[in-house]
Amino acid sequence: MSDPITSMLREDRVFEPSAHFLENIGAIAVTDMASYTRMYRQSIDDPTTFWGAIAKDFHWYRPFSTVVQWNAPDAKWFADGTTNVCANCVDRQVQSGHGDEVAIIWEGEPCAPEPDVRRLTYRDLQRDVSQTANALKSIGVRRGDIVTIYMGMVPELTIAMLACARIGAPHSVIFGGFAPNAIVDRVHDAKSKVIITCDGGWRRGSVVPLKKNVDDACEKLPEVEHILVVQRTNTPVTMRAGRDLWWHEIVAAQSTECPCEEMNSEDLLFLLYTSGSTGKPKGICHTTGGYMVYTAYTAKTTFNLVAGRNHVYFCTADIGWITGHSYIVYGMLPNRVPTVMYEGAPNFPAEDRFWAMVARHKVTHFYTAPTAIRAFMKWGDQHPAKHDLSSLLLLGTVGEPINPQAWIWYHQNIGAARCPIVDTMWQTETGGHIITPLPGCTPTVPGSCTLPFFGIDAAIVDDKGEELPPNQGGLLVIRKPWPGMLRGIHGDRDRFIETYWSRIAGMYVAGDGARRDERGYFWIMGRIDDVINVSGHRLGTMEVESALVSHPAVVEAAVVGMPHEIKGTGIAAFVTLAPSFTGAADDSLRRQLAEHVTKEIGAIARPDMIRFTALLPKTRSGKIMRRLLRDIAAGRDSTQDTTTLEDFTVLAKLRESDE
Ligand code: WT7
Repeated sequence: MSDPITSMLREDRVFEPSAHFLENIGAIAVTDMASYTRMYRQSIDDPTTFWGAIAKDFHWYRPFSTVVQWNAPDAKWFADGTTNVCANCVDRQVQSGHGDEVAIIWEGEPCAPEPDVRRLTYRDLQRDVSQTANALKSIGVRRGDIVTIYMGMVPELTIAMLACARIGAPHSVIFGGFAPNAIVDRVHDAKSKVIITCDGGWRRGSVVPLKKNVDDACEKLPEVEHILVVQRTNTPVTMRAGRDLWWHEIVAAQSTECPCEEMNSEDLLFLLYTSGSTGKPKGICHTTGGYMVYTAYTAKTTFNLVAGRNHVYFCTADIGWITGHSYIVYGMLPNRVPTVMYEGAPNFPAEDRFWAMVARHKVTHFYTAPTAIRAFMKWGDQHPAKHDLSSLLLLGTVGEPINPQAWIWYHQNIGAARCPIVDTMWQTETGGHIITPLPGCTPTVPGSCTLPFFGIDAAIVDDKGEELPPNQGGLLVIRKPWPGMLRGIHGDRDRFIETYWSRIAGMYVAGDGARRDERGYFWIMGRIDDVINVSGHRLGTMEVESALVSHPAVVEAAVVGMPHEIKGTGIAAFVTLAPSFTGAADDSLRRQLAEHVTKEIGAIARPDMIRFTALLPKTRSGKIMRRLLRDIAAGRDSTQDTTTLEDFTVLAKLRESDE
């Protein structure tokens, strides 16, 4: 476990909570470290009192009488309570007299001459979500049926998710950048009969053919009964009679009344697929009550949201990832702070798009990823400098460890050296933040995600589960259940246990290496499995290898991460060509293979470097020696013990063969 990103530059300065923030935020969620420590202790020692009080602030049809039941690895939160997440996001705001406040500020990508902005109030949402829910019912969607959503970042995406939640139909959102094959695997695994999509999506001025991708996927998915299509780009699409329906036709015809289903707290709210070391992506299961309480409470506390104080929150993630689920939609709406949803690319029409948006909407809270910050740095300081960013009060980052240079740049150029930065560490599986500063109280150190959130019994342990002393790297684990934790992998109990719970009995193993420093702050060192974090997105190296091997020219492939200036980790592929392949091993073939991976998985999986090799370094038992490949990809001289190398010459040859 090396620390390539955080070791680039040391930055030992400690940043105390900013006076500007404290004066302007409205009310401070957690005011000082003594309060944090006291609340943290209670959350760990007495979760029933701690979470019971927080959960009571939500609407329950039948109140819960138990808070947590724990029989590792199975947790139940608020188990006998009944509620509805959509009701808590939307109806409750209308019923309490806030129906005309803005819930979502949406901005489309095209902006000639002016960007297309839509503001949806809670009342608008209630109407649109109800009609959509009725439309879903009218095409046969019942409580418990999983609906697949493959859309661009349009308001109808949020509306579709809330409509599913309203009628108790779990959703499975697939990121719009994935290729048809990825849709096939996920729809098949979820057994979805209904897919919601768009004709196309805007990305950097071009149209992503979303409906066409769904059509291609459906050639292998005869079980799909209906495809509901939102018209966004007005590009021509094929509509198959009987199967395909236009959203604007079927939704508009529905009643605007649709009661919320009374859901059990542990009913499935959604599935979200994420990559692992082996096999196909796994459908992470999140349930109703615990996820709702955890995302809304972490959002409120970590971002210090205060309703009625003109806060405007902008998270730049795509809703196709967990960040968007938790911190554009579900964590935001119950807090009654408008959430900005942006359709397109950060550099369209120019590199200042986000800053123009911050100024236009008077954004107070801005949440993005280190990979984006590195791109902003590269694009230049002049872009943020052109705009009035004085509305900003808080900045956030998520997705991978942030290198101190990027932290400092963000702090100075975006935050005017007066906004706290919350470096929020979490995962698809954790539902919400697990390790993060609290902006009103936690002193921050660039590169550290600081301290565990309430209820998170995080520790750094060795392989036996023994806690390690300060500054010793080990496994990041969580030793107690928390409300937002995953409840399983869809349809694969064994994999759930094997992946997270088998390494150390009774502890959740996150899959990250980390250390704690003398003050107890956590420093994430990176994944310990065959998962790489590319631009803050998780990718299984095996998925990329399978895609490469499915090309006729390739017999074997090994994929590892390599340092990359913008992406954090780039993708390096070592490829052995088939004896039957008679063409040249040249740049044209490299391009073809990269295209092939893009076509099979999506652009996020496109290799940054492809190296041809006659043999791959393997141990005697035939395992590919990935550490060696990582060193070669990074241009490092390997100090690894190579005595088990089957063929020493492989290594020398790989080093010689320059790209
Ligand atoms: C992995 C989870 C949670 C939304 C984004 C990614 C890495 C995430 C941080 C951070 C260091 C981070 C970890 C984690 N990660 N946030 N603030 N500092 N590392 O979700 O795709 O489920 O990936 O992202 O390695 O395990 P994900």
